[in-house]
Amino acid sequence: MVAGPSDHKRVAMNDKKVISGFSKLPKAGKLAWLVETFLRDPEKAVRELRSFWHQDEDVQRILDGFSENTVSNYYLPFGIAPNFLIDGKIYAVPMVIEESSVVAAASSAAKFWLDRGGFRTEVLATRKVGQVHFSWGGPIERLYRLFDELKEALLRDAAPITANMEQRGGGVLDIELIDLSELEPDYYQLKVHFETCDSMGANFINTVLEEFGGTLVRFVDEHPAFEGSDRDLIVIMSILSNYTPECIVRAWVECPVDELNGLCADMDGPTFADRIRRAVRIAHIDPHRAATHNKGIFNGVDAVVLATGNDFRAIEACGHTFAARDGKYRSLSDCSVEDGKFRFWLDLPIAVGTVGGLTRLHPLASRSLELLGNPSAAELMSIIAAVGLAQNFAALRSLVTTGIQKGHMKMHLQNILHHLGATEREVIEAVKFFKDHVVSFSAVRDFLEFFRQENKLPDPTLVFKKG
Ligand code: MEV
Repeated sequence: MVAGPSDHKRVAMNDKKVISGFSKLPKAGKLAWLVETFLRDPEKAVRELRSFWHQDEDVQRILDGFSENTVSNYYLPFGIAPNFLIDGKIYAVPMVIEESSVVAAASSAAKFWLDRGGFRTEVLATRKVGQVHFSWGGPIERLYRLFDELKEALLRDAAPITANMEQRGGGVLDIELIDLSELEPDYYQLKVHFETCDSMGANFINTVLEEFGGTLVRFVDEHPAFEGSDRDLIVIMSILSNYTPECIVRAWVECPVDELNGLCADMDGPTFADRIRRAVRIAHIDPHRAATHNKGIFNGVDAVVLATGNDFRAIEACGHTFAARDGKYRSLSDCSVEDGKFRFWLDLPIAVGTVGGLTRLHPLASRSLELLGNPSAAELMSIIAAVGLAQNFAALRSLVTTGIQKGHMKMHLQNILHHLGATEREVIEAVKFFKDHVVSFSAVRDFLEFFRQENKLPDPTLVFKKG
């Protein structure tokens, strides 16, 4: 017999893994139920999860406030990529990322461009968008005719919400009425353009949009130009768009191709420049490559976005939408080699804030912003784009020369050694040994086995590949 919906419900209710009122339990209660229900060694698990609680209760309370049902903290490394010269200023950039070699790659690219003029940027625009999506069977031409009157009502009703932002130089910039009824019957939207200054502005935008939704409903309900069923307008949803092609920054580096000499033993500057140009071109032609290419850019972008308490999901959603703006997913970066000059650049739409949200609440986000000299949102856009470009340059540089595995596995060596329980002495010997040998999980395991049995370094010619 096939189980019906009520059977599923009964099964779920009787399963001891299902709980109601979890959110109401105190933290210790949540933890106790969790480890006893799901984990093999509850006592050990509680000890471990508690060991990640912050020792300062005030800080822990702040962290708990960011989310819901928290039982512990999840640590990620907070690293620094120094020597970033961006628009004539030196930055030590904070990066939060769990992947080995990303910070090293950014640092190395920063150092490389430090001697070649550094990264330059231009914030091309800072406008954001929000939408009120609505359904209406009424006469749209009439609403278009009354649009100035509607706009006035929208702005008037939202004035208490926008006053503060207007004082800071932002607010609502423009409102459009868009007819999409050819794609979906009775579907229209108010497309609203915002300036949110140094805040990312999500809460501000959404509050304004919800107010606009209410005003819109009242407007058609009360205006004498409409009657009967024309008064029935339904707001489907009011929400900001994370696609912000008008909040965009360009970052670039450039140098004569001859200054790229010596980057790789087997390649002169012009050859290297052309290999990079071709690698970028491939990421414009082939979406499979483009996804990985852009992922490399976001290695850098997300790490700074996270370190500064911004929303990396929003940034990723925007970047990938932009990468597919002409209907095909492409590279976000570009490269040209003309008249002996290598030019490499990135256009990145990115809506970030340096006030509001977590930016000042998270102690490390606040510290990151201080490290960056408490930048404006526009300056932070520049820094993030420069790091994304540096990351892309470093990845392509490895890819078109040595390949990435050599450097990546060297960085990953520590993780493998930790995983295999290496002692301090074994780590020191392994790092020395693998300086000129290829790192792989099995090579490190074999190395440790040999070292532990024989108490000396293995004969590399027998088992290990020179790297
Ligand atoms: C790895 O995290 C990122 C790269 O794959 C990026 C790229 O291929 O361009 C190295």
